Amino acid sequence: MAFITSTEMFKKALDSNYAVGAFNVNNMEIVQGIVDAAKEEKAPLILQVSAGAREYAKPAYLLKLVEAAMIDSDLDIVLHLDHGADFDICKSCVDGGFTSVMIDGSKHPFEKNVEMTKQVVEYAHAHGVVVEAELGTLAGIEDAVNVSERDAKFTNPEQAQEFVERTGVDSLAIAIGTSHGAYKFKGDPYLDFERLGEIEKLIPNTPLVLHGASSVLKEFVDTCNKYGGNIPGAQGVPEAMIQEAVKHHVCKVNIDTDLRLAMTAAIRKVFVENPAEFDPRKYLGPGRAAIKGMVQHKIRNVLNASGKA
Ligand code: G3H
Ligand code: 13P
Ligand code: ZN
Repeated sequence: MAFITSTEMFKKALDSNYAVGAFNVNNMEIVQGIVDAAKEEKAPLILQVSAGAREYAKPAYLLKLVEAAMIDSDLDIVLHLDHGADFDICKSCVDGGFTSVMIDGSKHPFEKNVEMTKQVVEYAHAHGVVVEAELGTLAGIEDAVNVSERDAKFTNPEQAQEFVERTGVDSLAIAIGTSHGAYKFKGDPYLDFERLGEIEKLIPNTPLVLHGASSVLKEFVDTCNKYGGNIPGAQGVPEAMIQEAVKHHVCKVNIDTDLRLAMTAAIRKVFVENPAEFDPRKYLGPGRAAIKGMVQHKIRNVLNASGKA
């Protein structure tokens, strides 16, 4: 078992009808829940760490937690930086043992995004690390309701081709209608599959990445709300749309919000059903089990990645 890059994983997933799940980790219970699920499903696995996670748990703890999970599970794992904002954080992760980094220059003008991405690709590749970049803006709930707004925000296929050719990036996160968090659409959910088709035609060898792919399952929102939560109006990407996307060149699907909701629902339930409980293991344990259940469901029923390790 080892920390590996996603190169071979993505090669296998590119022309297949499944995608690799990339799950965000912030603490021990989350790491354990995800890794246990991937092991049981015999699925390829990417664990990703955001800048916020590094700040919360400290880089050394996260690295050692994932290392421990790898040893305990005997799985090959990709350790990935999620949404690296600049060269420095990418360099720090490359130097610190990550096998994959994302440089997210999507908020910058095209030329600046190219320049930032090239710099990270050069450094990362020299150290055997792969790079994900992003082009296009993930739509917020108010955004991209009509065609011209979509054209302005979503990934432009010709630009994607130029971007990949000029940067040499290993995978590309695209904007086709998903967004981060629990409030993704105001009206009917919409993903631009036509645009996805054009992108994969122009860059047929580039693995594509879907951020903001949580489905915000009603069952978990309802459980949170039943046990004292207040999450009205939450709406995610229907799982059927993710199932469709993974039949395309989408090789990596990012999921964080669904894990947060599952864990929070389980913990809320413990506290409401047993207000006298104050042993952290008695609520973090069910939280960890909920993470495992959610990841197994995603791998098996949504990403079609069971048995693909
Ligand atoms: O894309 C963002 C991920 O859900 C990580 O979120 O920055 O709050 O850790 P975070
Ligand atoms: P969600 O908020 O939809 O889970 O997306 C997570 C993500 O894209 C992490 O990079
Ligand atoms: Zn993201």
